[in-house]
Amino acid sequence: MSLGICWTSSEVAPFAKTGGLGDVSAALPRYLHRVGHDVRIFLPFYSSIDNRGLDIVEVDFLRHLELDIGLHRTSFSVFTTPLPDSGLPVYLIHCPALYERSGIYAGGDDDAVRFSFLSRASLLCCQHMSWSPDIFHCNDWHTALMPLYLKRAFSWDQLFQNSRTVLTIHNIAYQGIFPERICDQVGLGEDREFLYQDDLDAGILSFLKTGILYADVLTTVSPTHALELQTDAYGMGLQDLLRQRSDHLVGILNGVDYGEWNPATDRVLEHHYSPDDLSGKQRTKLAVTERLGLDTDPRLPLLGVISRLTAQKGFDLVIEPMRQALGAGRIQLVALGTGESRYESAFQGLQDAFPGRAVFHRGYSEELAHLIEAAADIFVMPSKFEPSGLNQMYSLKYGTVPIVRRTGGLADAVDLYNPATGEGTGFLFDHFSIDAFRRALAFALETYADPEAWKRLMHNGMSRDFSWDRQGALYVELYRRLAGHS
Ligand code: ADP
Ligand code: GLC
Repeated sequence: MSLGICWTSSEVAPFAKTGGLGDVSAALPRYLHRVGHDVRIFLPFYSSIDNRGLDIVEVDFLRHLELDIGLHRTSFSVFTTPLPDSGLPVYLIHCPALYERSGIYAGGDDDAVRFSFLSRASLLCCQHMSWSPDIFHCNDWHTALMPLYLKRAFSWDQLFQNSRTVLTIHNIAYQGIFPERICDQVGLGEDREFLYQDDLDAGILSFLKTGILYADVLTTVSPTHALELQTDAYGMGLQDLLRQRSDHLVGILNGVDYGEWNPATDRVLEHHYSPDDLSGKQRTKLAVTERLGLDTDPRLPLLGVISRLTAQKGFDLVIEPMRQALGAGRIQLVALGTGESRYESAFQGLQDAFPGRAVFHRGYSEELAHLIEAAADIFVMPSKFEPSGLNQMYSLKYGTVPIVRRTGGLADAVDLYNPATGEGTGFLFDHFSIDAFRRALAFALETYADPEAWKRLMHNGMSRDFSWDRQGALYVELYRRLAGHS
């Protein structure tokens, strides 16, 4: 039996993406639609959405709808467009007063209003569509108030009587914490008694915490992270609450959209390759190093980095060991990212110190991300915490052997290479320290020096399957249990 799934998120690729949330919010719904479910995505119509080449039309019966923001009645309309490579409808909430900003996130209290509006507008649209989804799937703090709205402001409507809510925690570092006075602006003025009282007493409202209290099921994006979240080291203050709800907390590793990320078919690559013929990888490495102004020395391992540059990603550990290895002429480096200036300067410093051996591209580039995945020999992801992570899985598919810290989805996706058996897919280290990373890098370089061992390692990784066909099926199973279909 087909399920109705209402998906709400602040990011959906290719319309709006700053990280993995955008990827997952496109790929998982795409899978669900492909296997026959009725999935509808709701996303703000950000003015930053590049609508060239998109077929976006206004929905006749979703024009000039109204919601209150505090004392102000605010009107919005809805446009729709199919998700690329899928027929599933994406509904874009058009409200220039809220979504005409330079980027996806505006920062500050503005975002509380912008994203609570997304949740409420999505529910209003479902009413106008006379649609009662089996599942409302909310993502991160942005849409975490939805379960409470369903229990309060929208509880009068029989339409949603059998609907169930899932809240996925992609990144607990962002909780959506605002001053308590925001309650009126986000439609919770009358519902203070349903909020976390200690927080209100302390003068705050946490969107994520409210979602954790009221969602029927909580998920996070890897089994290991589901355990980590319940510990003091990783719970970011919400561990007690998550422990209380541990019977309703499930970890499902993210999947990879192999339509996008496959070296045999990648739209960005000129030279394709597969496990049976890796020559395209060598050619890509040559072309990319040339293009980026690196010396072309095919024997030197090329290290790749593609990341948001935040403390989460662990780059504090790598700069010194990389500086030494670059200085000793043992590696080349290509890094792509943007974020905190201390990391941008650190990578820029490596480029300045080692021209021809290290290059840093400050910014965001889908094209370069694909080229780096294909050209690099080793991919570096030393994260302090990583709920799932996608790039380690892309890297495995591209024969780009990952060095990762053993945490969250990195621990679940990468197996430590064992030289005695030839098994394993990459290099892992446990302790969050420069030395631990240095040892992992040394192990990787030592292995790289043995071409046969390296080839085996690449093959091991390339044969792993992290497709959404597998991971998405786990969500369907979960939805069915929740909706009482099984
Ligand atoms: P997170 O969501 O924490 O950033 P993930 O590994 O889940 O981490 O997803 C990151 C996604 O964002 C990947 O698709 C990666 O390729 C992409 N990405 C991150 N930084 C950049 C960048 N500077 N340019 C292009 N793509 C990037
Ligand atoms: C988050 C996490 C990342 C995860 C992504 C998508 O931003 O940091 O590990 O892959 O969300 O779920």
